Amino acid sequence: MISSRTEIDTLTQPIQRFLGCPTPPQWIEAACRSENLPVLLVDHLICELKAAQSAVYILRRYVTDTESSNKLLELLKPYEDFIYRKLDNSEFLTTQSFSKSDLLLAPATSEQQQIMMDKMVLLIKEELHHFRQVLELMAHYQVPYENISASRYANGLLKYVRTSEPAKQIDKLICGAFIEARSCERFAALVPHVDTRLAKFYTSLLRSEARHFEDYLLLAEAVAGADISARVALFRATEAELIQSTDHEFRFHSGPVT
Ligand SMILES: [Fe+2]
Ligand SMILES: [Fe+2]
Repeated sequence: MISSRTEIDTLTQPIQRFLGCPTPPQWIEAACRSENLPVLLVDHLICELKAAQSAVYILRRYVTDTESSNKLLELLKPYEDFIYRKLDNSEFLTTQSFSKSDLLLAPATSEQQQIMMDKMVLLIKEELHHFRQVLELMAHYQVPYENISASRYANGLLKYVRTSEPAKQIDKLICGAFIEARSCERFAALVPHVDTRLAKFYTSLLRSEARHFEDYLLLAEAVAGADISARVALFRATEAELIQSTDHEFRFHSGPVT
């Protein structure tokens, strides 16, 4: 358990160095308004599912057999049913968990692929655990799930992803690194301003989210097998612009709202 500001600062320093700008104070102020708590939690819930989905997407490229691929899709299904089909299975979801042995994927064909598979399986496990934790918090704060529109953030980044392979995969991994890093930076920024329960939860997320950003970046470097700093710089500038420019609606990854 992370217990002090110093430990939080130590964990977030590499993230702050990686990102092009800190979260603007106006966003933190808006996030702390009680009327924005439902959006903050619901959007966070959706972000956890999207994080798991993008890791599944990456992983499915490396699992060659249909059985493993189907297992990955089945794993997401109850979460997608809740978010996209409005199935009231939240009680079922909060009792779910899976271990690596539940996902006996066919072995990778190279050491690099095996490393990628292991990292992605752990990441999916953690993101789905976070999803269930956010659901519990929503129940605690009596926030019902309601559909909300996506912010411009993810699409604003993904529109610069190149279309040919392996460039597409490298760019997607770099985007993943920025999304994870920004989420982590925002959790840390919120800790001093929210109530004890939320502060404890956001603090508990920092360790895994800080590792996720590094995993994505290492994977991008491994796939490229070459220097990726020019692509990282492009996405850093784009991400900072999205975070600093004014937005129409408050979201977990929005800019300051007008
Ligand atoms: Fe997460
Ligand atoms: Fe994450």
